[in-house]
Amino acid sequence: MREDVHLPAQFAREGLRVRKREPTLRRPADVAEFQLGMSSLSLHGAHEVAPYMPKGMQDAGTAMHRSASQFAVAAKEASIDHDVPRALGALTKVTQACVGCHAGYRLKQRSD
Ligand code: HEC
Repeated sequence: MREDVHLPAQFAREGLRVRKREPTLRRPADVAEFQLGMSSLSLHGAHEVAPYMPKGMQDAGTAMHRSASQFAVAAKEASIDHDVPRALGALTKVTQACVGCHAGYRLKQRSD
């Protein structure tokens, strides 16, 4: 049997190759979603700390959680369609959200 004309074998090989690559592309997606994304809100007790933040800071936090979830989706899609540049573009939005909040807000020790 010649491998190059045997499509099922070729598919099986491609399938194996894709599965081997999956962990590297899926792990960042899961970390982003569950530790930074919308799924992380209850984990980090967002509802308890948000009232202590000014409105603009809450919005910056929400922007970060949203962009992290969007990156998670883009990274998962990249494991299927190999559109890595799009995933990296989505990751840039996450870091922009980090920088956006750091530039505008600082913690300060209470003086009383
Ligand atoms: C909603 C606002 C907000 C967002 C969004 C945010 N941070 Fe922060 N971050 C802070 C504040 C406030 C501090 C406390 C340090 C300060 O007062 O400057 C801090 C501190 C840090 C520190 C510790 C710095 C130090 O001096 O020890 C790191 C590291 C950090 N952030 C990383 C990130 C990363 C990475 C992201 C994005 C994934 C992010 N932050 C998103 C508000 C934010």
